[in-house]
Amino acid sequence: ISSWSPLHGDWPRRLGNGAAGLLYPLLGACLWAAVVAYKPVIIVHGLFDSSGDFKNLQRFINESHPGTNVTVIDLFDRSASLQPMWKQVEGFKDAVYPIMQNAADGVHFICYSQGGLVCRGILSTLSDHNVHSFISLSSPQAGQYGDTDYLKYLFPQFVKSNLYHLCYTAVGQRVSICNYWNDPHHKDLYVNSSDYLALLNGERPSPNSTEWKKNFLMIKKLVLIGGPDDGVITPWQSSQFGFYNDNETVVEMQHQDLYLSDFFGLKTLAARGDVIICSVPGVEHVWWHSNETVFHSCIERWLV
Ligand SMILES: *[C@@H]1O[C@H](CO)[C@@H](O)[C@H](O)[C@H]1NC(C)=O
Ligand SMILES: *[C@@H]1O[C@H](CO)[C@@H](O)[C@H](O)[C@H]1NC(C)=O
Ligand SMILES: *[C@@H]1O[C@H](CO)[C@@H](O)[C@H](O)[C@H]1NC(C)=O
Ligand SMILES: *[C@@H]1O[C@H](CO)[C@@H](O)[C@H](O)[C@H]1NC(C)=O
Ligand SMILES: *[C@@H]1O[C@H](CO)[C@@H](O)[C@H](O)[C@H]1NC(C)=O
Ligand SMILES: *[C@@H]1O[C@H](CO)[C@@H](O)[C@H](O)[C@H]1NC(C)=O
Repeated sequence: ISSWSPLHGDWPRRLGNGAAGLLYPLLGACLWAAVVAYKPVIIVHGLFDSSGDFKNLQRFINESHPGTNVTVIDLFDRSASLQPMWKQVEGFKDAVYPIMQNAADGVHFICYSQGGLVCRGILSTLSDHNVHSFISLSSPQAGQYGDTDYLKYLFPQFVKSNLYHLCYTAVGQRVSICNYWNDPHHKDLYVNSSDYLALLNGERPSPNSTEWKKNFLMIKKLVLIGGPDDGVITPWQSSQFGFYNDNETVVEMQHQDLYLSDFFGLKTLAARGDVIICSVPGVEHVWWHSNETVFHSCIERWLV
């Protein structure tokens, strides 16, 4: 696990010593053009968003990596984002697959909030994906549990104390947020009921887990971005696979069963040095994709 600090890194060198360039200027120029062509970036939005919310992020990418082909997938917008997670995975998968097939050198994923869980589903079930950097931008990777003002606004009738009555039923599981609602006081209900996150995180066994792990491990980097002032993702450490125990103390990723069991490859990725944790204070949930400091500190260098 490496924590990236913008102050201590050096930029990845994209150009070699260029012997070929000295001997064959034209060939060198062609190689240069090929090597600096940035991989296409695919953006997957979160709950209640739509593609228009990513104008700033698109601008940051265009400014730092000119010529990058950025696609914000315009599916399951607004209230349609409440549809079940597996359904969204299938829809987004159909949209991203042709982009991957057009990208011989692979693509990058930037997946925001609930979109980070959609992307987990895609990366686990698509056996020939070519995603290099999977950038998870404040996504509840270990689940969500919190009656924040935002959630109260979205679901005025369901406060934290009784959301599990809705979520942990077959009907509740038809609502996206219930697919990853993780009530630490009713762990067995979550494990038995969650048709999505409990399967992906290996809290409930799935017949496809070996295949899913193999697929997920084809990514080159997992970048987990989050911060203490998020205000929506609860606990905020869920953006980095930390979560509450049954007395609501946050247990960090490295002490979570889902990490220790290496169920879906998280520990393997960390041992490879390919899990990057980027924590930024002072960012509220709705600003993650529009904050230029976040882009420069946590995202930019993984888009090469
Ligand atoms: C990218 O930046 C260039 C130069 O500033 C500008 O002309 C172009 O319209 C931008 N493209 C997008 C998609 O923002
Ligand atoms: C960007 O990628 C999409 C999907 O692969 C493709 O349809 C489109 O033509 C590309 N745009 C440019 C300017 O290359
Ligand atoms: C969860 O499932 C297990 C195994 O099927 C069962 O023994 C247990 O009673 C279930 N727990 C709840 C709360 O439904
Ligand atoms: C496992 O994979 C099979 C075939 O790929 C699929 O039909 C099935 O729905 C998958 N199971 C789950 C739990 O996703
Ligand atoms: C809560 O759990 C943590 C970790 O298991 C433990 O250290 C702490 O003492 C517990 N706190 C209470 C009030 O039970
Ligand atoms: C952007 O992030 C920085 C922290 O890196 C924070 O100080 C600033 O308030 C943020 N701006 C917004 C609009 O979120």
